[in-house]
Amino acid sequence: MTDPEAVETREESVYQPSPEFVRRANVRGMEAYRALYARAERQPEEFWGELAERELFWFEKWSHVFEWAPPFVKWFVGAKTNASYNCLDRHLATPRRDKTAILWEGEPGDQRAISYFELHRLVSRFANVLKARGWRAGDRAVIYMPMIPELPVAMLACARLGITHSVVFGGFSAEALKARIQDLEAGLIITADGGWRRGREVRLKETVDEALIECPQVRDVIVYRRTAGAVSMKAGRDLWWHDLDEGASDVCPAEPLDAEHPLFVLYTSGTTGKPKGILHSTGGYLAQCVATMKWVFDLHEDDVYWCTADIGWVTGHSYIVYGPLAAGATTVMYEGAPDFPHFDRFWQIVEKYRVSIFYTSPTAIRALIRQGEQWPDAHDLSSLRLLGSVGEPINPAAWEWYHRVIGKGRCPIVDTWWQTETGAIMISPMPGAMPLKPGSASFPLPGVQADVVDVYGKPVEAGKEGFLIVRRPWPSMLRTIWRDPERYKSQYWGRLPGVYFTGDAARRDAEGYITVLGRVDDVMNVSGHRLSTMEIESALVRHPSVAEAAVVGRPDELTGQAVCAFVTLKKGAADHQQLGEELRRWVAHEIGGFARPAEIRFTESLPKTRSGKIMRRLLREIVTTHSVTGDVTTLEDMAVVSRLAAED
Ligand code: PRX
Repeated sequence: MTDPEAVETREESVYQPSPEFVRRANVRGMEAYRALYARAERQPEEFWGELAERELFWFEKWSHVFEWAPPFVKWFVGAKTNASYNCLDRHLATPRRDKTAILWEGEPGDQRAISYFELHRLVSRFANVLKARGWRAGDRAVIYMPMIPELPVAMLACARLGITHSVVFGGFSAEALKARIQDLEAGLIITADGGWRRGREVRLKETVDEALIECPQVRDVIVYRRTAGAVSMKAGRDLWWHDLDEGASDVCPAEPLDAEHPLFVLYTSGTTGKPKGILHSTGGYLAQCVATMKWVFDLHEDDVYWCTADIGWVTGHSYIVYGPLAAGATTVMYEGAPDFPHFDRFWQIVEKYRVSIFYTSPTAIRALIRQGEQWPDAHDLSSLRLLGSVGEPINPAAWEWYHRVIGKGRCPIVDTWWQTETGAIMISPMPGAMPLKPGSASFPLPGVQADVVDVYGKPVEAGKEGFLIVRRPWPSMLRTIWRDPERYKSQYWGRLPGVYFTGDAARRDAEGYITVLGRVDDVMNVSGHRLSTMEIESALVRHPSVAEAAVVGRPDELTGQAVCAFVTLKKGAADHQQLGEELRRWVAHEIGGFARPAEIRFTESLPKTRSGKIMRRLLREIVTTHSVTGDVTTLEDMAVVSRLAAED
C-alpha cells in the first residue's frame, strides 16, 4: 500500500461525479450516503418502515416491520398490499396517469407507447380473463413470452390476483421449460406464437407444445398472437388471448394480499443439476426495488429509463417491470438483439426515445467495443446522464470505454452487484454520492450489511480476497427455495454460521470499495447468464455416447467465462469431430442455446479424488493456466492430470 506508484495509479482512476450531477441527485455526497447507511443499520425498523410508508400503498399496515427467525424472515408482518396496485392504480390519481409507462420497440421496428392509464386497462382486462377461467390467489402460472408489452401485462395481471408467476426466459429449451412447469406444479401457461430475434421467428408455442407432453396438470394455455406464424392449438387446452380479451371488463380491483404473499418464483442455477426456484415475496421486494430505483438510478420524474435485460432474468423483473413501474418511471423495452439489423441498434433507440438512464451488461459492452466507435458516434447520445452495468464483473478497460465513448465522460457509471436471490441491487455506487473506481461496485446500499470474510467468517484485511457475505436479512431477500427449504438453509445460511453466503469472492480496499471477483462455487457466469456446471454435466451424460463429463468455466475476453466440457466416451463411440458438434447441439436442446459449450475436450479419464469426486478445481486450473500447481494429494490417478495438461 505504500508503493507510491500504486497510489498514483489508484488516484488516477477515480472519477468524481460532476457538480451538475450532484446538484440534482437524490443522494448528494458521501456524508449523505453515510447518514442513510448508519440509520438503516442502527434503526432498521424505522428506516424501512418510513420508506415503505412513503413509497408504497398498503391496504393495511404492518404490526411490526420484520420478524427474523433465522434463516427465515418476514417483512411488513401482517400488512396487506398488492404489487399490481402499486405499479398501476396508485399512479392514476396523480399526473402520472397519462405519463408513458412503457415505451416499447419491436425488433422489426414496430413501436408502442403505453400510458399508465392504458397499462392499467390492459392489465385489468387480462386479470379478468384469468379470473373468468377460475385462476386465483395461490395458483401458479408459467409465463414463456417474447419481450412484448403483454409480458409485463401478464405478470401484473397475475400479481393483481395473487397468482404466483414464474417467467421462463424464451431461450430455454422444451426440456428446461418442462422441468420448471413440473417443479412448480403450474396449471396455467401464458405464451405467444413467437417473437423476433435477429430477423428470425423464435417459435415459442412449438416449444410449449413439446414441454407439455409430460405436464398433464396444465389446464389452460393462453397464446398471444405476436408473429402470426403457424401454430397448432390443442382443443380444450389452448386459448387465444385476443378471443378471451373480447368483452372482458376494464374493471378488476387488485386483491389485498399479505405482504409476504409469493409474488414470483424465478429459477436459477445452483451447484447441483437441478435449478432452484427462488421465491420472492411482495411487500419487502417492492420496497427495495423502489428504493434502489431512487438511490442507484437516481430516478427523476422526467427520466427515460432503459434496462436492456430480458424479463426472463431477475434484472428484467426488478428493473424493467416492478422497480420502474412502482416508481412511476417511463421504462423502455426492446424485443430483439442488440446487433440487429446493425451494431448501432442500442444507440438508435437511445437517440430515438431520448433515453437518460441506460443499464446493460459488461458482455454487451465488450461486444460493442469490438465493433468500433463509429456505431455510437453516428448517434446523438446527449440525452444520457447515467449508465449502469450488471450481471458480471466489468473489467476496467470496458468501464473506461463505456464512460468515454457512450457517456462522453459526463455520465457516472453504477456497477451494480446483486443476484436472483437478493431481489434488488445490494452493492452499488449512489452516483451523486461517491467517487467511482472502474471495476468496483463500491459500497453496500443502506440496509445491506455486506462483508468480506475468510473461511472462518472473520473479516479479511483490506486488499485481501475473501467470501462476500451479508450479515442481516434485507427486505427483498429470497424467502426460500420453492418446495426445498432445506436446500435454502444449507445453501445460503449453512456455509458460514449465521450469515448469508453469496457464492462470490470479493476484495475490499482500504477506503472500503468492494470489488466482486466472481463465483467461488460450481456456478459459471457466461455473458451474465448464470449456468451450473452440474446441470450441463447432467445434460451431457444423458447422451448415449457419453460415459462421464466434467464442466468448468474458462476465462473468455468477450463473455467473461466460456463453458468448457471434458468428456469421456463409452466404448465404440463415433468420430470425435462430429460428436463434438453433436454434443454442443445436445446441450442446447437439453437446456438452451446460451448453455452450449464453447469447447468439448475428449479425454480417456477425469481426475478424481479417492472417494470418486471429480476435481473440477484441477480442470479449471488446466483451462486457465494450462498447467497444474495446486494440491493434488487426494488425487486418484496423477497420470490423468499430466495427460490432460499435455493435451492442452
Ligand atoms: O457472480 C455474481 C454476478 O452474477 C451473480 C448473480 O447472477 P444472477 O442471479 O443471474 O443475477 C444476475 C443479475 C443480478 C453474482 O453472484 N454478478 C452480478 N452482478 C455483478 C456480478 N459480479 C460482479 N459485478 C457485478 N456488478
